[in-house]
Amino acid sequence: MQQPLILGIAGLGTVGAGLLHLLDHHKDRLEERAGRQIRVGGVSARTKAKDRGVALRDIPWFDDPVKLAADPSIAVFVELIGGSDGVAKAAVEAALRAGKHVVTANKALLAEHGAELAQLAEEHGVALNFEAAVAGGIPVIKTLRESLSANEVRRVYGILNGTCNYILTTMADEQRSFKDVLKEAQVRGYAEADPTFDIGGFDTAHKLAILTSLAFGTKIAFDQIHVEGIQTITEADIEAAEDMGYRIKLLGVATRAESGIEARVNPAMVPKHSAIAEVSGVTNAVAIDADYCGSLLLIGPGAGAHPTASAVASDILDIARGSLVPPLLTHARNLKPYKKAKLGAHQGAYYVRLAVYDRPGAMAAIAKRMGDQEVSIESIVQRRPRSALPGIGARVKPGAPAPVVMITHETTEEAIRKAVKAIEQDGKVSERPQVIRIEKLNEDARQ
Ligand SMILES: NC(=O)c1ccc[n+]([C@@H]2O[C@H](COP(=O)([O-])OP(=O)(O)OC[C@H]3O[C@@H](n4cnc5c(N)ncnc54)[C@H](OP(=O)(O)O)[C@@H]3O)[C@@H](O)[C@H]2O)c1
Repeated sequence: MQQPLILGIAGLGTVGAGLLHLLDHHKDRLEERAGRQIRVGGVSARTKAKDRGVALRDIPWFDDPVKLAADPSIAVFVELIGGSDGVAKAAVEAALRAGKHVVTANKALLAEHGAELAQLAEEHGVALNFEAAVAGGIPVIKTLRESLSANEVRRVYGILNGTCNYILTTMADEQRSFKDVLKEAQVRGYAEADPTFDIGGFDTAHKLAILTSLAFGTKIAFDQIHVEGIQTITEADIEAAEDMGYRIKLLGVATRAESGIEARVNPAMVPKHSAIAEVSGVTNAVAIDADYCGSLLLIGPGAGAHPTASAVASDILDIARGSLVPPLLTHARNLKPYKKAKLGAHQGAYYVRLAVYDRPGAMAAIAKRMGDQEVSIESIVQRRPRSALPGIGARVKPGAPAPVVMITHETTEEAIRKAVKAIEQDGKVSERPQVIRIEKLNEDARQ
């Protein structure tokens, strides 16, 4: 039997405590599978006295995670603190420099500094494993880094943020407003007190930045991702989507395009009966289109103590068995610079919702602006939201703007943006038009 593998675990919150629980619960199973014992040789968190529901009495305590990271007694540093900089980054760097393997669940750290950390890990001949950083319990990092390593990936997209998916699903199922559902999500602990990071799409962008690098062999480029959040999605959009055969999901999408990589986070319309539309609540999903394998769809728990601990523990087990792969699939020195595709060249269909003044000629003027940009309309509906129908909600005042919803045929982003801007400038609408991309799914390609 080999020497035991000694872990130093920094961060004993949701994920850290979950990991300690798993390591204890599956102690014998892990030993059998690793061919050696896996032991915790040190832990660190902010408050020593806090009850974490796991036995810590016999484990050496470190006030400073950086000291734990470089301590000679440990072979693997497990970073479960979080944050792109500060102590998490300092500790991970210290561990790699000291020749320790690193396991982390920290997407922010990897999205901002992943390429440099991968380089450091390779220089020191150690592992940098991060299965839990994207989509929690879904094994998407290993899927891209190992199972699909002989493919050219054409596209990867998914539902990567449980908070946003919970909000959008609840808005649709219960016909409630964004504000109302967000408040409830905060009470239930699904959304942070400051939810900007989740609802603004930035958390999804962190995860997409990591997936994009693994998929396309490029440097991680979080700051190059086009990000739109879900704050602007209204009940009217959810209702119209439902009636027109769609559901709205916050997607992170990275596609290999002619002019470079198109990576974006945005609310998107997906066909109501597609598998991804049916991913509800806090569940995550990742779809991958690879040249030899074809298309895959992974669905599962994107967060939570147990699923995340499961992912972290599998990374530890890999190290215990001696598996060592380049952290970002391609050796860090061979990662290509990220070349951003022009979003204006994006081709697809669009949903457009306009609040049109009830005046003669308004619709003709709108049709002309669309025609000027060669945008052709697949369907157009003048509709009142259910909440505004007489007898249900507010009375509709004569002359009030009428909601008009259009679905376009495939066009370019540049054309639709120009047409909508011109409509706005003509003064025919009372508020900023809503434009939502209709996403072409890998599932469509199979039909
Ligand atoms: N929660 C999830 O479902 C989930 C899923 C996927 C990935 N992740 C990632 O996993 C990481 C941890 O998330 P979490 O939800 O477990 O966070 P959390 O519950 O807030 O736990 C953070 C832990 O870090 C400790 N900590 C904070 N600052 C520290 C410092 N300066 N020195 C030492 N320890 C410090 C805290 O100590 P105290 O307990 O003493 O305050 C706490 O134990 C993050 O990178 C997160 O993005 C989380």
